[in-house]
Amino acid sequence: MRALITGGAGFIGSHLAELLLSEGWQVSVIDDLSTGSKDNLKAVEHHPNLSVCWGSVLDSGLLSPLVENCDVVFHLAASVGVRRIIDHPIDSIETNVAGTLQVLKIAAQGLKKVLIASTSEVYGKSERITLSENDDTIMGPTIKSRWSYACSKAIDEFLALAYFKEKGLPVIIMRFFNTVGPRQTGRYGMVIPRFVTQALREEPISVYGDGRQTRSFTDVRDTIRAMRALAAKEQAAGQVFNIGGGVEISIQELAEKIKTVTTSSSPIQNIPYEQAFEQGFEDIKRRVPDISKSRKFIGFEPQISFEETLRRIIDYHKSKAQVDNP
Ligand SMILES: NC(=O)c1ccc[n+]([C@@H]2O[C@H](COP(=O)([O-])OP(=O)(O)OC[C@H]3O[C@@H](n4cnc5c(N)ncnc54)[C@H](O)[C@@H]3O)[C@@H](O)[C@H]2O)c1
Repeated sequence: MRALITGGAGFIGSHLAELLLSEGWQVSVIDDLSTGSKDNLKAVEHHPNLSVCWGSVLDSGLLSPLVENCDVVFHLAASVGVRRIIDHPIDSIETNVAGTLQVLKIAAQGLKKVLIASTSEVYGKSERITLSENDDTIMGPTIKSRWSYACSKAIDEFLALAYFKEKGLPVIIMRFFNTVGPRQTGRYGMVIPRFVTQALREEPISVYGDGRQTRSFTDVRDTIRAMRALAAKEQAAGQVFNIGGGVEISIQELAEKIKTVTTSSSPIQNIPYEQAFEQGFEDIKRRVPDISKSRKFIGFEPQISFEETLRRIIDYHKSKAQVDNP
């Protein structure tokens, strides 16, 4: 099988590339390196079945031949992270909406299967205890730019489902909840790499808000196994799947846990949202997926314990710090 991974030099994309290569797939990657890095693909850079193209999915001249020469597209390229979306809203909306439209348009010419990376953010402010795929999405107002990420990903979903309905394009939508692991960067607001880096540097660990908000974290190795399984499932076409469901923990507890595991003496500091993001920033209190649909279709169940995931992330950041500051 031949896969194209857009955003393949990113966190999730690079782990997926390694998995597929290890199983004998031919893998092409397109990535503009805006948040990804060549280093993420270091372990496979000389693999005979890997080819990489450093450029944007917005460049149809680059993208078209890559889509034509694959059997399945994993579309992960996007502007990711609340921090980045708030700082660069135009660029983010364009990448997320125009980029996905471009992928779908080109894929439709050869009816190539497309798996679209969406996000739990599309549930918006829903206060349901667990979120399932057909629940309502409840967005905040357009004057708060944090919602542009959720809305742009929701438009991606609408577009993909429209291509399925009107053109018969086999699309599968994966709504990722917090996926974590080595290579995720804390630069754009992702909580675990940010806390781990702060703890290892003995800097204050900055918890936004009161820290009582909870998230559930899933190891990237569980996530990529789900992606590969969905790609192989004919009946998944035209459907949306929650991918997540790891351990639920409050952000305050998370900070304390990371402080303990790293044996750091960092103080834990609570920072008001307005100071961390923008005036009137709205956070989500709780975000836990109902994964019964993924369980039913592909037998998905997160396998990797949070303790193990955290250990691997901490080891990664320790060795990275040694390379960066020998
Ligand atoms: N990590 C999570 O917890 C999470 C949660 C929900 C959704 N997602 C989605 O999963 C996908 C992958 O996210 P990630 O966490 O690996 O982030 P990431 O930033 O590491 O990966 C995104 C990749 O896309 C690349 N990219 C951005 N714009 C591009 C463009 N125009 N052309 C080509 N490449 C481009 C970046 O350089 C990067 O390598 C994204 O679509 C994201 O929205 C991730």
